[in-house]
Amino acid sequence: MLEGTFVFWCFIAGPAFRRAQAVHGLQARLDRRLLAIAWSSLLVGVATGATWLVMVASNMSGMPLSAVLRGGVLRIVLTQTRFGEDWLIRAALVLVIAGCLAVLGYARKPAAVWIALLASAAFIASLAWAGHGAATENVPFAAIHLPADILHLLATGAWLGALLPLILFLVVMGHDGSPDGIEVAQAATLRFSTLGLTSVATLLLTGLVNTWFLAGTIPALLGTLYGQLLLVKVALFATMIAVASLHRSRFIPRLTTVASEAGLRWRAVRQLGANATIEASIGVFVLAIVGIIGTLPPGLHTEPRWPLAFRLDPGEIAASTRTMLDVIVVLFALCFAFTAFTIHRRRYRETAAFIAGLLVLGGIGWVALRPGIVRAYPTSFYASTQSYAAPSVARGMPLYAENCTVCHGAEGLGNGPLARKLPTRPANLTEPHLFAHKIGDMFWWVSHGSDNGVMPGFADKLTPDQRWDLINFVVARAAGDLANHASSQVTTAAALPLPDFAFEQNHAQNTLSQMVKKGPVLIVLFAARAPRARLEQLAGLGPRLGAAGLQVVAVGLDPTTDNGPFIVEVANDVRATLALFRSTTDGGETELMLDRGANIRARWTASGAGGLADTATLLADAVRVASIPVAAANHAGHAH
Ligand code: HEC
Repeated sequence: MLEGTFVFWCFIAGPAFRRAQAVHGLQARLDRRLLAIAWSSLLVGVATGATWLVMVASNMSGMPLSAVLRGGVLRIVLTQTRFGEDWLIRAALVLVIAGCLAVLGYARKPAAVWIALLASAAFIASLAWAGHGAATENVPFAAIHLPADILHLLATGAWLGALLPLILFLVVMGHDGSPDGIEVAQAATLRFSTLGLTSVATLLLTGLVNTWFLAGTIPALLGTLYGQLLLVKVALFATMIAVASLHRSRFIPRLTTVASEAGLRWRAVRQLGANATIEASIGVFVLAIVGIIGTLPPGLHTEPRWPLAFRLDPGEIAASTRTMLDVIVVLFALCFAFTAFTIHRRRYRETAAFIAGLLVLGGIGWVALRPGIVRAYPTSFYASTQSYAAPSVARGMPLYAENCTVCHGAEGLGNGPLARKLPTRPANLTEPHLFAHKIGDMFWWVSHGSDNGVMPGFADKLTPDQRWDLINFVVARAAGDLANHASSQVTTAAALPLPDFAFEQNHAQNTLSQMVKKGPVLIVLFAARAPRARLEQLAGLGPRLGAAGLQVVAVGLDPTTDNGPFIVEVANDVRATLALFRSTTDGGETELMLDRGANIRARWTASGAGGLADTATLLADAVRVASIPVAAANHAGHAH
């Protein structure tokens, strides 16, 4: 309101009054009212700002409010936290604004109005540093989030904050009813209309940027309270725009037709005032929602509960059909635009043709989309709370033996002792088909059972973390099983992820995930005895390894005292996990080539046809593997 009042003062009322000299009395009356609005807004700002500080201090220190007020917590928060620094800057701005308002109480000094405008703009913009915009890091285009937030705040203040001054202004002018007054009212509303348009465009653009950073995905929009409130906010905002455009298209022309009589023009002014009041009241609701949203974690940081029983899985649609769908979407958008255009031009026969086009395209699109519409569950878009790494996989192992073996079998082949007695065969959990499922879907089945009720749910028996451990184990075992059938030829097809693991080498800690970031990794898995000759051979490559971008890690799967080049020390859970990726008939050694996403791209065994790769092949393969694009890994460490 502070910012809006001064925007109104500087850009709307000021220039409008300059046109008509005769209404100075009115201007003084309006100035007094604007000053009153500014003072009360400032007081509200100071009171709520102080409350906010105390609450944050209590939150940070974990002390009750009364203790915060008595102790030195406030001083620490003010001097040693980012929030406190911002708060002090805001307090300084409040003093500047208060000074300007005091001056304006005595005389109409333009400089004071402009300084107050700048200070109040800085006051509202400074809120961006307390918001999510300032915390966005490590994502593409993070640098535009903060500026977008600042512009969003400035545009909100300019538009919404200037509405109340506008209403007051129209009321004052309406009471006066002089011929000069109508000129001023007309000039001011035209200017306000331009301000509104600019602000709305800014709000739309910057709002899109914010949505992208904070809600980002459709599940986050539909499935979190944050996203749902955001949608309500957008709907209210759209209503405000509708009201404002009515304002522009209906009443402003009535005001500007010079020929129309004064009575009609005054009626238009009153209608404009009523309209602005509706706009402002919707705006209050929008702000209330923003207030609630501000206290919630952003949509992308909470698990979205998917509200629908189906979802779209583009993977289920054939590639050629997907291309066709892209074309249909473009044609549909064009048809839609033409429909709107012909309605606008009142060429209804053409409209009918375009609507027919929309129906036909919609029909074809629906048929093409059909196979991609699959069953979904509330947890479909959940991300795992347990990262896809050796400790979690190892924790899942005994849980599987205890709960799942009866039906799915010790090896996961679907042949447990109970299997034959069931009406439906338990799924084979080692087939490639397992990777087609979203982990969120698996989480639902393990928690609440299969759709047909044959598989029971384990939500009562196992904690959510344990269920995620189980899923990590099932995924790792399937990856291991499939990898054991992988060939020595580099494949770009299905991605089989190796779980992350930690190791110690030359007394330094490292993890697989850190290593693969730098390039491909050759994992050498060996049984009791280290394959010294092979490791020496690899070590002999020396700088040629680095030139090909290949790194080597050798892990003994039995606790061993052997040492040699590349051999690292690992914990027992890592040994148990990596054992899933080695068959007992590998002749004592398995080598896996991993891409930058830790997916297995080629596999060799000592006993396989052709044996282990010769060094020239290894180096050439490493260059190829380095060029395989890696899908952005999800929370679980592998992409779906
Ligand atoms: C009472 C027997 C039974 C038990 C116990 C059981 N399952 Fe199942 N499971 C099934 C059956 C039957 C299906 C196939 C359901 C279907 O086709 O709708 C299945 C399907 C699945 C699927 C879906 C696989 C796919 O590809 O469709 C997963 C994942 C799964 N089970 C995991 C587990 C895990 C993990 C456990 C242990 C916590 C477990 N199951 C315990 C019987 C069982």
